[in-house]
Amino acid sequence: SSSGSGSSNIRRKPVIILVVGMAGSGKTTLMHRLVCHTHLKDIRGYVMNLDPAVMTLPYAANIDVRDTVKYKEVMKQFNLGPNGGILTSLNLFATKFDEVISVIEKRADQLDYVLVDTPGQIEIFTWSASGAIITEAFASTFPTVVAYVVDTPRSEDPTTFMSNMLYACSILYKTRLPLILTFNKVDVAAHQFALEWMEDFEAFQTAASSDQSYTSTLTQSLSLVLDEFYNNLKSVGVSAVSGVGMEAFFNAVETSAEEYMETY
Ligand code: GTP
Repeated sequence: SSSGSGSSNIRRKPVIILVVGMAGSGKTTLMHRLVCHTHLKDIRGYVMNLDPAVMTLPYAANIDVRDTVKYKEVMKQFNLGPNGGILTSLNLFATKFDEVISVIEKRADQLDYVLVDTPGQIEIFTWSASGAIITEAFASTFPTVVAYVVDTPRSEDPTTFMSNMLYACSILYKTRLPLILTFNKVDVAAHQFALEWMEDFEAFQTAASSDQSYTSTLTQSLSLVLDEFYNNLKSVGVSAVSGVGMEAFFNAVETSAEEYMETY
């Protein structure tokens, strides 16, 4: 309930779902699956694309950064490479983000969720001024949650798992928003191992100790630190390809949104 919070001009709906993850984790495919699920279940959703450089999207976006900023022209105009072009395009879009927020506010009564796809290079969103501005603009108006997409098969390697979790951890502390670890591609590898590692750091250390390298020692020490981080998270296993886990995902979003309303 929102009654506990004194501050709030924050409405209850829609809930903003920021979909972030490493390149190749399956964000775009997952977005498509989530959009299909909302259509199927009569969930009222809005879809936003924040990737200025994406060529084609498998879903129709209601709000698309590409309608406002032409990434190729930005590159030419400012003499930038691809990453600079994406970053500058997002900066330009961020300066107009109050307009985006008012579009959503006008429709708030008809919307349950806004699904937001972020640029393929994760740090362009998570470590840029515009990413922070956009996140803050959302979070000061609507309940906002982060869905951190993990490539589950690739994370079976303990060191990869650890670096992925550290990244998620940095996003949690940077945004201070509820974070849902969204283990994708469970059609290829079940995420049970990850749940076990998060539950029991000794199980993780055992897995990591098969590698005697320096990083492995560091990895083992870090697992102790991350223990506290895991306590603050929700995890779900999904497959963007098979469609498994959609109900669990939206349940986690609902719980996180409630948590958000209690906190802010
Ligand atoms: P960027 O385009 O770099 O942002 O990557 P992305 O994170 O949007 O990933 P994308 O959706 O392009 O998916 C990357 C690859 O993973 C593609 O080959 C997808 O087909 C595949 N993929 C995505 N989700 C799943 C899944 O649930 N299961 C399987 N088996 N493959 C998946």
